[in-house]
Amino acid sequence: MRIGILGSGLMGGKLGTIWARAGHEVVFSYARSDEKLKKLARDAKGKARPGSPREAAQEADALLLAVHWSRLDDVLKQTGDLSGKVIVTCSLPMNADDTGLVIAHTSSGAEELAKMIPKPRVVSAFGTVPSEVLFDVYEAKRKTGRPSLVYCGDDKRAKAVAVELIRDAGFDPVDAGPLRIARYTEPFTLLVAQLAYEGNRGPEMAYRFEWF
Ligand SMILES: NC(=O)c1ccc[n+]([C@@H]2O[C@H](COP(=O)([O-])OP(=O)(O)OC[C@H]3O[C@@H](n4cnc5c(N)ncnc54)[C@H](OP(=O)(O)O)[C@@H]3O)[C@@H](O)[C@H]2O)c1
Repeated sequence: MRIGILGSGLMGGKLGTIWARAGHEVVFSYARSDEKLKKLARDAKGKARPGSPREAAQEADALLLAVHWSRLDDVLKQTGDLSGKVIVTCSLPMNADDTGLVIAHTSSGAEELAKMIPKPRVVSAFGTVPSEVLFDVYEAKRKTGRPSLVYCGDDKRAKAVAVELIRDAGFDPVDAGPLRIARYTEPFTLLVAQLAYEGNRGPEMAYRFEWF
């Protein structure tokens, strides 16, 4: 797959690296320095390169949106038309100091994003795990008992793309249903963050749902 990374920070930088190592073609975009994008592409090895958000979006089979909520308008302005593009978002609608959600309960960041794009194909995924665990999960990928990763969306084809990306990153995808379920998955992340950053076992943690 050709994957465009919009926001090459903790989440985008790591997931882009993982997907490049898994054999995908990755374009890293949207950081404050071109040097950082070049280094990410170099270090990811595989088929990775730096680019502008527009270049990342062009011909992409999937885009990962991984920017702070306050940067959403800016990055969308730079990508150009995203109608019909598969967008996997891990971006949470957090306030400026990351202490709370600015959208919740009656809508979600993922739904608001979908409203901004004509013919949206948005999937909410990856936002429920801390960036610190991503490489560990990827490296442990062949073992049994993979951690779960919930995802949701309204477009079947986009969800199939997300499933592939979730599996390639070493997680077990759990379909949580339509995009409006992001109203529950986004606040769930605040629980995960509490355990990861305020607990005493460190942020290298993920979760697993079990059915009996
Ligand atoms: N971090 C986590 O563990 C985690 C977990 C779940 C969900 N999320 C969500 O995922 C999203 C991304 O989080 P993150 O932690 O990856 O954020 P981050 O590390 O701050 O990455 C954001 C990216 O946006 C770039 N950026 C910021 N301002 C910019 C500007 N003015 N011009 C160009 N580029 C700019 C940053 O550039 P630089 O690289 O130069 O800083 C960085 O590459 C957020 O919505 C967050 O809520 C994060």
